[in-house]
Amino acid sequence: MIQIFSNSLGEEEIEAVRRVFESRWIGFANECKLFEKEFGEKIGESKVLAINSCTAGLFMAMKILGIAPRDEIIVPAINFIGVPNAVIAAGAKPVFADVDTRYLNILPSEIDRLRNRNTKAVFLLHYGGHPCDVDELRKHCNGLYILEDSANSIVSKYKDKNCGTLGDIGCFSFDAMKILSAGDGGAITVMDEKLFLKAMEVRYLGIKNRQSGIDSLKENKNRWWEIELASAENRYLTNDILCAIARVQLKKLNSFIKRRKEIWRIYQSAFEGVRFIEKPPEPLPDTESSYYLYWIKVKNNLRDKLAAYLVKNGIYCTFRYYPLNLVKYYDSKERLPNAAQLNEEILNLPLHQNLSNDDIEKIIDTVKRFFKRV
Ligand SMILES: Cc1ncc(COP(=O)(O)O)c(C=O)c1O
Repeated sequence: MIQIFSNSLGEEEIEAVRRVFESRWIGFANECKLFEKEFGEKIGESKVLAINSCTAGLFMAMKILGIAPRDEIIVPAINFIGVPNAVIAAGAKPVFADVDTRYLNILPSEIDRLRNRNTKAVFLLHYGGHPCDVDELRKHCNGLYILEDSANSIVSKYKDKNCGTLGDIGCFSFDAMKILSAGDGGAITVMDEKLFLKAMEVRYLGIKNRQSGIDSLKENKNRWWEIELASAENRYLTNDILCAIARVQLKKLNSFIKRRKEIWRIYQSAFEGVRFIEKPPEPLPDTESSYYLYWIKVKNNLRDKLAAYLVKNGIYCTFRYYPLNLVKYYDSKERLPNAAQLNEEILNLPLHQNLSNDDIEKIIDTVKRFFKRV
């Protein structure tokens, strides 16, 4: 089966893990700190913390901002379930917003429609790696925090600034399906200095000044085991094994994006003028995409049939992300026409750096063959 995601992990990553094993310390230490520095340089923001997942970052964001019961957070309907889960865990209410039918990014007008006295923040997802029109959105967010889920947009740029550094807090993912893949792990950026210090506490159980026993000993405290808590928090620390892998992946990241962009272009010209297919849009002017997803719209109620045909022919495909307002658990009353339409039409085809030219040809031929038969 041709997979929709893949990773490029090899000898260099194994070597990096070996180095960590040999150091006899596999927890949070130098590799994590170096990763924070190097990733920060890559995205142009020094206030970065390495954490154990992007979902951890979403949960942390609620704590950092003090989101509480009765607060409301606007969330684009096409997004990952971890976002509303984090909001609900904070006792607050996720309010689902409709998205643009081409970019699948949140509609600015939805923020005006949905905001009220209780609204505290708006989540942005840069769907598939294509940055939202952030300046336009900002006009509608005055007085609200902007939280970026940058899991799709690791090095995407909006007017030369990296996604995940455009709002107040940004969350990144390095799980098994992401472009930079370490198996798990994530990062959080926090723009405000005070909130950044708070984030450090939230990351590690709420311990004041993030001090470990070893840190206290170094400061010649005679009872270095004493604990001072600022608040009662969860534990979102990552470790040197994951960060050692992530550091190697970071060096390879540009080559991954380059190949993804090449494949994107091949698909775009191959699907030009194909009946029943609407291609995805190019990134907005003055933006750069990370090319995380490739999405087509399949017309005439043929999406599910095409999906079944591709899978039968050894090509995995899917739809990211099933509209959140349709997830029964959330019990949303929002009727969102664009999300409803996209739910019938969108299909993600494989897009990753390990696709061979033969794979790409097979995917394109199989899609075209399907439409010749209908
Ligand atoms: C858009 C989006 N946000 C957040 C996440 C969560 O990432 P993680 O698996 O690192 O928690 C994912 C994971 O698939 C995602 O696709």
